[in-house]
Amino acid sequence: MNYYIKTFGCQMNERDSEKVEGILLENNCKKTDTPEQADLIIINSCAVREKAENKLYSEIGRLRFRNKKAKIVAMGCVAQINYEKLKNVADIVIGTNAIDEFYNIVKEHDINGVFIKPNMDKPDYIFPHLNKITAYIDIMYGCDNFCTYCIVPHTRGREVSRKKESIIEEIKRLVDNGTKEVMLLGQNVNSYGKNFNYGFVDLLYEVNKIKGLERIRFTTSHPKDFSKDLIYAIRDLKKLCEHIHLPLQSGSNKILKLMRRKYTIEEYLEKIYTYKEMVKDGSITTDIIVGFPQETEEDFEETLKILDEVKYDTSFSFKYSKRPFTKAKDMDGQVPEDEKLRRLNMLQDLQAKITQEKLKTYESKITEVLIEGVSKKGNQFFGRNRQNTVVNLDFMDNIKVGDIVSVKVTRTLKHSLVGEPV
Ligand code: SAH
Ligand code: SF4
Ligand code: F3S
Repeated sequence: MNYYIKTFGCQMNERDSEKVEGILLENNCKKTDTPEQADLIIINSCAVREKAENKLYSEIGRLRFRNKKAKIVAMGCVAQINYEKLKNVADIVIGTNAIDEFYNIVKEHDINGVFIKPNMDKPDYIFPHLNKITAYIDIMYGCDNFCTYCIVPHTRGREVSRKKESIIEEIKRLVDNGTKEVMLLGQNVNSYGKNFNYGFVDLLYEVNKIKGLERIRFTTSHPKDFSKDLIYAIRDLKKLCEHIHLPLQSGSNKILKLMRRKYTIEEYLEKIYTYKEMVKDGSITTDIIVGFPQETEEDFEETLKILDEVKYDTSFSFKYSKRPFTKAKDMDGQVPEDEKLRRLNMLQDLQAKITQEKLKTYESKITEVLIEGVSKKGNQFFGRNRQNTVVNLDFMDNIKVGDIVSVKVTRTLKHSLVGEPV
């Protein structure tokens, strides 16, 4: 059986697609580059904003047109919440917690729609990886936070942490096969192990001991649970990279409260300043939503002020999108679309300037790069430094993918650096 796969959404979804591919490859299926050659077309969907959700439907239509014979599988976050609607347009619908059943479901080709609700009692599987230099490891599933704008707790269910032993075993196996860097994934990694009496920072210390592993990253931290212990770990653990992704969402306390984020801007900034003080050359990235219900011009300006104060290396910003099941969709004071767009453009212009300022600080300096691959044109290597900035460098005979190289930065591009090995 030949499969074609297309993935939307966050790293969680990328990891889920990798699991599915691993399962299919283990069962002698082959990957195709075009949908026309496939017997099975898989679309892994994201529901976080309306636009992302609509992509699944347009993609099903488009792919069905290109290949009328293939079975179409809709999986991921939209599949989890929209089974009824999807079963009319896709051949097979698979929820976010049914991945281990993927092959069996697909094998029974004639089943029209299978949906499995999150089952918290499943064994702690170690799913396959497609061997790579950097690997995603999901350490927990779901989210308990219910921020008022967010659909994720509905698409991914309640928080469940994987067992420490299983995570360590998975990473050891990967490292034995050449992996150098792991990215530990969860919607809120700081609450890892809540029911085990064993926390995220303990896990980091354990992972740091794995021989042959070079780098550890994690995402995402919820600011309310981002602890001093974690900052110390970033300072003290050699493998743990100096980068945090700490989603701000808004710079206004009024809006943070309406979002149910459970921190104030003062608390947030205090954590940022402790991090900046304790961690030398640490980078910070964030997520921001503009045009949340009742956001006034003043509230928005407060967000801009925080951008200027924190000086994020990068920020990912979005127009607020009304989502089913969420509290914010019924709030008064929805902001008109053109106003959201105006705010988004303003914020992104400001961030572009800050990103340039931050990139410029690397010029003429030496930065440590893990070589992850070869550029599309085939004449350059690319990788990332510990701060998670992409660095490009020219080919050299004595360098290969997987090496860690000291690079002198020669120039900056819009979102990345260019340099030469020293
Ligand atoms: N668990 C992660 C976020 C997952 S969703 C965390 O809490 O940081 C990724 C980002 O999408 C969020 O940080 C938020 O900025 C954005 N987002 C979520 N719901 C949204 C919505 N309804 N409209 C616009 N952006 C949204
Ligand atoms: Fe969504 Fe909030 Fe959970 Fe992040 S912490 S996934 S934004 S509900
Ligand atoms: Fe990720 Fe989108 Fe689902 S952001 S968790 S794929 S809704």
